[in-house]
Amino acid sequence: MEIYLSLGVLALGTLSLLAVTSLPSIANSLNWREFSFVQSSLGFVALVLSTLHTLTYGWTRAFEESRYKFYLPPTFTLTLLVPCVVILAKALFLLPCISRRLARIRRGWERESTIKFTLPTDHALSPLGFLFLVVQSGITVCK
Ligand code: HEM
Repeated sequence: MEIYLSLGVLALGTLSLLAVTSLPSIANSLNWREFSFVQSSLGFVALVLSTLHTLTYGWTRAFEESRYKFYLPPTFTLTLLVPCVVILAKALFLLPCISRRLARIRRGWERESTIKFTLPTDHALSPLGFLFLVVQSGITVCK
């Protein structure tokens, strides 16, 4: 009983902190690093605390037959679906094989097969260089 209440209070506290820091007057006084830490890391902590609050509340109750009125699942089991999927997905993305790749993509990495834009080095070989030569020779002829 005390555990789920304590987790609920902690979750509400963290969510309040998130709400306050998202106010424009306060958000403008934070730098990008601080803002992204509060909204990203603290947001995830709030989600975990709220999920734990509902999990600890519903753990014993979920196995009571009287909770399933008209054979429908109780609220505390339904509300856990989306947060649990988000937490599992986050855990999956934190695996080294995926997180390393994600970090590379964030730094601008692209797969070899995608189109690459390179600056022409030889005028005579590139289409742009050919166009350049045509225009240049046109100018010489006009002169
Ligand atoms: C001061 C903070 C909080 C306190 C004291 C608190 C307290 C409680 C209590 C006493 C219940 C049981 C209700 C009942 O017996 O029907 C409950 C259920 C629940 N709480 Fe909290 N809570 C808090 C914060 C939160 C937060 C921040 C969330 C999520 C964002 C949350 C989500 C839930 C959910 C989903 C249930 C289950 C509702 C149901 O199945 O009817 N609570 N909470």
